[in-house]
Amino acid sequence: MRKLLFTVCLLATAGLASAQQANGNKVQMKELIDEQFRFAEQQYKVLAKNVPAQVMPKTYNLKTNKVETSDTKWWTSGFYPGSLLYIYEYTKDPTTLKEAELRLATLEKEKHYTGNHDLGFMMFCSFGNAYRITKSPKYRPTIDTAAASLITRYRPNAKVIQSWNSSKKWKGPVIIDNLMNLELLAWVTDHGGDAKYKKIAINHANTSMKNHFRPDYSSYHVVDYDMKTGAVVKRGTAQGAFDASAWSRGQGWALYGYTMMYRFTKEKRYLNLAKNIASFILNHPNMPADKVPYWDFDAPGIPNTYRDASAAAVIASALLELGQYTEKKDAQVYIDAAEEMITSLSSDAYRAKAGQNGGFLLMHSTGALPLRSEVDVPLTYADYYYLEALMRYKNWYL
Ligand code: GLY
Repeated sequence: MRKLLFTVCLLATAGLASAQQANGNKVQMKELIDEQFRFAEQQYKVLAKNVPAQVMPKTYNLKTNKVETSDTKWWTSGFYPGSLLYIYEYTKDPTTLKEAELRLATLEKEKHYTGNHDLGFMMFCSFGNAYRITKSPKYRPTIDTAAASLITRYRPNAKVIQSWNSSKKWKGPVIIDNLMNLELLAWVTDHGGDAKYKKIAINHANTSMKNHFRPDYSSYHVVDYDMKTGAVVKRGTAQGAFDASAWSRGQGWALYGYTMMYRFTKEKRYLNLAKNIASFILNHPNMPADKVPYWDFDAPGIPNTYRDASAAAVIASALLELGQYTEKKDAQVYIDAAEEMITSLSSDAYRAKAGQNGGFLLMHSTGALPLRSEVDVPLTYADYYYLEALMRYKNWYL
């Protein structure tokens, strides 16, 4: 009896200790998130000064010490207004909202763009957040028009949205990143729009599930289709180390994409795929201790090669959502990993010092190493998904 009592006491003490630890962790994360948003509010005022009207910030050139910008047709044009909106959502700073509104006005015309598949990135990370946060109906027609523009790229025989136009290299390319554009379509249908948008999103997700993944649940970057027959012509890469490699941000897009599609459909196979992708990423032998991936899980020269902070930000945000849909044990693994990623990204190793980095938040992302483009630099989408991950952690786990 005394032995039993002793064991019960021991267990209760251990339970109390672990509850206290979890509580302490929450306090730490709350402080970290608060500090990051306060920093972001100030830092993005530096960035705003570096971005002329009519263009959007892309990266910071460490050699010329200049912010590089793009026109609004570039795939990253929605992330700056989107990041400003996340900052505003947290801080309620009216100057930040004003800057976001100014940039949204510049971007709005791209609702008609049909030159590639990137409309979801461009118009939903920006106008989707504007509508959600400000609740102003004025943003809704832009979102609807963007969805209509995006589905002009739907190829019904292959049941996919074509990512890029045909070229010498690709006949009908679909890249894994394309999953991210489905959020725009599914959202419009679920918010009173035509059912066709979500159907197209589901068809695309199903086709990609069939053709983009390897037996270990890593994903090819590009699957090339014959759009008349739907046959796969070839599989390869544009931004990865080699055709059969696991390009890190691509794995992040895949994880985020199927988690998000589960949100809209409650289809178990999307959830299972997302869990398998998470397992590939989190158990990969080349995942570094700080959980900020190298730019490709199969990059030559690991550990002496570049990291991709943007991949960590996308993966962290996706894992936090996956944690919402999974059993406690699995969910804890995802939340813990996301927490480690967020903590690393918020450390001096990745987060810029005030006033530096052109005004971007994060350092050490890799855009397209094989093209020698944007290597080991800040990137606008790294900041966006980092802020999203911070916000998701605050909303769901504090
Ligand atoms: N969607 C392009 C990229 O991830 O680099």
